[in-house]
Amino acid sequence: MKILGIESSCDETAASVVEDGREILSSVIASQVAEHRLYGGVVPEIASRRHAENIVEVTQQALKEAGCTLGDIEAVAVTYAPGLIGALLVGVNFAKGMALASGKPLVPVHHLRGHIASNYLSSPQLEPPFLCLVVSGGHSHIVEVSGYTQFRVLGRTRDDAAGEAYDKAARAMGFPYPGGVHIDKIAPTGNPKAYRLPRPKVEGSPYDFSFSGLKTAVINLLHNAQQKGETVKVEDLAASFQDTVSEILTEHMMLAARDTGYQKIVLAGGVSANSGLRERMQKACGERGYQLYLPKLSLCGDNAAMIASQGYYEYLAGVRAGADLNACASLNIEAGYAG
Ligand code: KG4
Ligand code: ZN
Repeated sequence: MKILGIESSCDETAASVVEDGREILSSVIASQVAEHRLYGGVVPEIASRRHAENIVEVTQQALKEAGCTLGDIEAVAVTYAPGLIGALLVGVNFAKGMALASGKPLVPVHHLRGHIASNYLSSPQLEPPFLCLVVSGGHSHIVEVSGYTQFRVLGRTRDDAAGEAYDKAARAMGFPYPGGVHIDKIAPTGNPKAYRLPRPKVEGSPYDFSFSGLKTAVINLLHNAQQKGETVKVEDLAASFQDTVSEILTEHMMLAARDTGYQKIVLAGGVSANSGLRERMQKACGERGYQLYLPKLSLCGDNAAMIASQGYYEYLAGVRAGADLNACASLNIEAGYAG
């Protein structure tokens, strides 16, 4: 069964055709990152405009590369939440038009559920239940995935998301947007013990995260050094930052796994591409005899294949939207589509 997936929640316009939730027949991504970089972050108005300009061509290309027409597609799956509202609306309205014109069902997909599904495309044998760490630019969640469409959030960030902390710290270190990948590139060349950064805990909520203090510590450290005329070795600061974030994410995840009894551990979201996090998780899971599943690097960031994959499972669960489907800027991953 072929599902066409459409993704436009942030700064990637993407379309993909996936067979039976597991096999990517095509995955086309038009990234706007070079343009947003000029402004140091995503400019919502520009994002919406570029989505509107690109979406037809991206979708045509995805169908062409998959060697099929709309007639071969079983359903159209689209990201409807969460994300930038204007950006989401472009994908939602386009998908609505495609579904209406072709008479195919429309399946709404939660973006973070999509990130988790990137693992079904990377590991064919992976099935729920499992425990997933979803770390992206906007979210840091520990999620219990008890079924393909059943989710429970055990831990979340109280302030900045992991990716957001990476990008803000990277900006202070002088890297262009999005800076996460730049810190990751330089970190292995530095000393991770050079700077002792805070490891904040949330009182009474051991699975929750708080990254804003860590980000502020990096910014203050750089400002203080500048005022005193001292130089900071950026690779050492990057290594220390990466070490700290990886440690916090891994520790909280291992705690949640121990308490819930899950031995199948899964990573998802843009930050799951981080080499320090992957390494530390591998080590922690190895020591405990847990199975670790990592998304392919090409599927960590935003793409539409993950939306088509999750769309397949939502479709099997009977999830359908009508022409009144709206986009939501924020929506809990646990909430199914209410109609
Ligand atoms: O999942 P994603 O592509 O978009 C959202 O849904 O937010 O995540 C983007 C985030 C950005 O903050 C980016 O800097 C971060 O993922 N990221 C990384 C790496 N690659 C992407 N952070 C750390 N290390 C990386 N290698
Ligand atoms: Zn994302």
